[in-house]
Amino acid sequence: MIVFDSIRDFMSTRVPLEGSLGFVPTMGALHEGHRSLIRRSLKENQITAVSIYINPTQFDRSEDLQVYPETILEDKEQLKSLGVDLLLIPTYEQMYPDTFRYEVREKEFSSEMCGAYRSGHFTGVLTVVMKLLNIIRPSRAYFGEKDYQQYLLIRDMVEAFFLEVEIIPCPIVRDPDGLALSSRNMNLSDSAREKAPLLHKLIRSKGSDNELKLELTKEGFEVEYVQTKFDRRFVAVRIGTNPTVRLIDNVALIE
Ligand code: PAF
Repeated sequence: MIVFDSIRDFMSTRVPLEGSLGFVPTMGALHEGHRSLIRRSLKENQITAVSIYINPTQFDRSEDLQVYPETILEDKEQLKSLGVDLLLIPTYEQMYPDTFRYEVREKEFSSEMCGAYRSGHFTGVLTVVMKLLNIIRPSRAYFGEKDYQQYLLIRDMVEAFFLEVEIIPCPIVRDPDGLALSSRNMNLSDSAREKAPLLHKLIRSKGSDNELKLELTKEGFEVEYVQTKFDRRFVAVRIGTNPTVRLIDNVALIE
């Protein structure tokens, strides 16, 4: 595995590459969800590139950014043993030579659901993903369906800007008790971790969105939204204190 901490070096190595390149963008703190995307990329492409970059522009709360888990040494080891070819770990100065004067903004769906509770979040995501796609120039890029709204917005951005990359959604990976894997799960206290799988259990209940919201509130979750859209039910909650951990999940209503 070649590790790049310079975007320029990555781009000059990338130029002569032949064959398909699969790309998995991450913010590190890797778990089985990330590993499933990487394995799929390794299977479907000649070369697989991964990026680790905790993108500050997509965090609406500085407390959230401060407690975002960082496990860079373990991440590198994992990526090496999985057989990843290229790893990019850029700095803020490299990613934002413009100091974020330029951005990619979607004007409708990005202010719904997660966007309604995380001001500017999707602008940060779309901007950094556009930058990463331009740097890496992959044939395929892999995104987890846990962040389903993110996946849809990236898919539509690629279409809107004629980017030559196939965006591939990959199924949510769950712990045996149903909790969707997320780097943020590392921040759950024992009691919050015990309660968290209820989210997946209840999201599949037959009641209305409003009934589910009431049920989750009764169980001690601070509910941001419950919404059914595109034959899927989406939920975002916060749980625990110090830190409060934000959990999201979604399920297809028609299998
Ligand atoms: O899903 C994530 O981990 C991030 O939003 C992404 C796509 C790596 C952009 O920072």
